[in-house]
Amino acid sequence: MLATESKDNISQKGQEVQIKILRFDPDKDKTPYFQSYRLKHERGMTVLDALMLIKETQDPTLSYRKSCRMGICGSCAMQVNGKPVLTCQTQIKELNSDRIVVRPLPNYPILRDVVPDLRNLFNQHQNIKPHIIRTDMEEVNNPSGEFVQTPEELEKYLQFSYCVKCGACLAACPTCATDESFTGPQALMTAYRYVSDSRDAGLENRLEALDIRDGVWRCHFAGACSEACPKGVDPALGIQLLKKEVFKLRVLGLKKEPAPLALKPANVGHRKDIPKAPERNVEK
Ligand code: SF4
Ligand code: FES
Repeated sequence: MLATESKDNISQKGQEVQIKILRFDPDKDKTPYFQSYRLKHERGMTVLDALMLIKETQDPTLSYRKSCRMGICGSCAMQVNGKPVLTCQTQIKELNSDRIVVRPLPNYPILRDVVPDLRNLFNQHQNIKPHIIRTDMEEVNNPSGEFVQTPEELEKYLQFSYCVKCGACLAACPTCATDESFTGPQALMTAYRYVSDSRDAGLENRLEALDIRDGVWRCHFAGACSEACPKGVDPALGIQLLKKEVFKLRVLGLKKEPAPLALKPANVGHRKDIPKAPERNVEK
């Protein structure tokens, strides 16, 4: 028998699949329970499509979270057949089984059905100050030019900027499973994204969130976060590189010089036929 001819293979259009979904209504259920649904598989159907079809045609009480349906917003992450995935990017066919189990991401409280409470993810993200930090505040408040950045310097952090904050890495992380105070792979990796940006000088400002018991040193390098990431980001690598940066600052006292302003092009004037930019109208 060919590998693709297993009895569970559901490449057939119209084949019936069973979907078991974790249900939980905090207003009436003491504990979560599974509910089974059956539907016909259509070519190209994703797990999210299946949930939407169930809600439309079988059970309007089913709750899930989604928005873009194209792997960009990160809101549809769930655990499907034991793995954290973006359900809008996961076709039923690729699961190669006619029995599918959908649960909310582990390591988060459940708000309802397969909707996890991601507040811890976003709080940790906010704690590490996820933005460029400069010391020259006069330039930040009244920008007069651009900061220099070479393509090589961009490469250092580019992959880490692809994170869509879906939370799958926290769901896969064994440390997050046992220590809810752990900063977590998403926030630590994002800290490295900014620390490794040549324009940033903010590692010192982030130390109180990173150089602590539950911060960067709590990562045991299990690597499960990188395996789970649906965007191809390698948070485990970012965290190890972040440890190096924290060590360089805390132990060796090495501080980074952030990128300077780019030189203004010489002999370039303002074209008179191009109107001036409007006055700044955003409150500081
Ligand atoms: S690092 Fe990957 S898995 Fe973690 S939140 Fe970002 S996109 Fe999701
Ligand atoms: S719905 Fe936006 S990533 Fe899936």
